[in-house]
Amino acid sequence: MRTVSVNIKEHPYKILIDQHLLMGVGLELARYAKSGTKVALFTSKTVKKLYLERVVRSLKTSGYNVESFVLPSGEGEKKLKTVSEMYDVLIENEFDRSSFIIALGGGIVGDISGFIASSLYRGIPFIQIPTTLLSQVDSSVGGKVGVNHNAGKNLIGAFYQPKTVLIDPRVLKTLDPRELICGYGEILKYGFIKDLSFLELCINSKNIILDLKDIELVSDIIQRSVEIKAEIVAEDEKESGKRMVLNFGHTIGHAIEKSCGFGKFLHGETVILGMIAALKLSVVESGLDPQKANWAIGKLKEIKLGSKLENLDIEMALSAVRHDKKVRDGELNFVLLKDIASPVVVKGIELEKVREILIWLKNEVD
Ligand SMILES: NC(=O)c1ccc[n+]([C@@H]2O[C@H](COP(=O)([O-])OP(=O)(O)OC[C@H]3O[C@@H](n4cnc5c(N)ncnc54)[C@H](O)[C@@H]3O)[C@@H](O)[C@H]2O)c1
Ligand SMILES: [Zn+2]
Repeated sequence: MRTVSVNIKEHPYKILIDQHLLMGVGLELARYAKSGTKVALFTSKTVKKLYLERVVRSLKTSGYNVESFVLPSGEGEKKLKTVSEMYDVLIENEFDRSSFIIALGGGIVGDISGFIASSLYRGIPFIQIPTTLLSQVDSSVGGKVGVNHNAGKNLIGAFYQPKTVLIDPRVLKTLDPRELICGYGEILKYGFIKDLSFLELCINSKNIILDLKDIELVSDIIQRSVEIKAEIVAEDEKESGKRMVLNFGHTIGHAIEKSCGFGKFLHGETVILGMIAALKLSVVESGLDPQKANWAIGKLKEIKLGSKLENLDIEMALSAVRHDKKVRDGELNFVLLKDIASPVVVKGIELEKVREILIWLKNEVD
């Protein structure tokens, strides 16, 4: 069993990574809750068919009183209405402050369930069992939970740490290949901001990771990703400064995601595009060696994305960047690299520069 400690001062917890961990959920819960405790198990329709049964069995075998609930799927359902309906169901079914919430699914299930856990009765204990690569290496770690608002993604939420995170890399076998690429994009991000040899390993093992050919190696890579995220989050739980480096590739990534319409590109795919842009920008703005930038850009361009940039509307993307800037106190802050594994937050980048980069990106990637 691999273990990663998340050393957040008030709420330290452990992330466990192991094949077949789904079958041991009951035993893991026994560290935190006595037999007979009521457990609300949230999942999605797809994950229910694939994995719910074995998790329920494990919980029942350990004596837990488990009820499962299917959350509606898709980014559009990650909203307060879903949360509110679930409050009704949980209260009606007499879940109380000593009950547990378990999220079994991707980032959407994790974010919604975590938000319910953070707010119902001012907080009830919560466990994450992430089942997509992106949720295993990113969204389940660090305690950000929440839902979307009509005005934008993730505008409503909280910082609420789980009791533990249980990662079973075997479940990735049923994941859509595009979803694997999304997780891979975030994994590369950790390499870029923190660890050159890890970056090289992930780039050189691209096919092994994306084809899940070696589950031990994939487990190693999940472990290192989670270690990097945990380290950064432990230093800055509430995102007041250091945690910003996790946004590498995300400013332009978000702008592409928004301007192309949510759904055309998946989040992790736009992060890959955003990292290509950030690498290029790093050469002029933060002194990244052009040879290193070109090497990395070449490797990122080899990743096959599910959509093309040909219809990118540069002005719409710029307006999304401008909106981002407004949200962040009028400063356009970019996470760039001085070197690989040496990130820097550069303030006050001109919008004109961003326009140039977007035009370059559109020509470069298509
Ligand atoms: N809280 C955070 O820190 C944080 C960080 C990054 C992203 N997020 C959020 O995460 C969400 C995206 O999460 P995601 O990428 O996991 O997408 P997702 O939750 O939509 O899952 C993708 C799809 O895969 C299915 N699925 C899940 N596990 C599966 C499996 N093992 N086999 C087959 N199908 C499976 C799901 O049912 C869903 O249809 C976004 O809402 C984003 O805002 C949150
Ligand atoms: Zn991301």
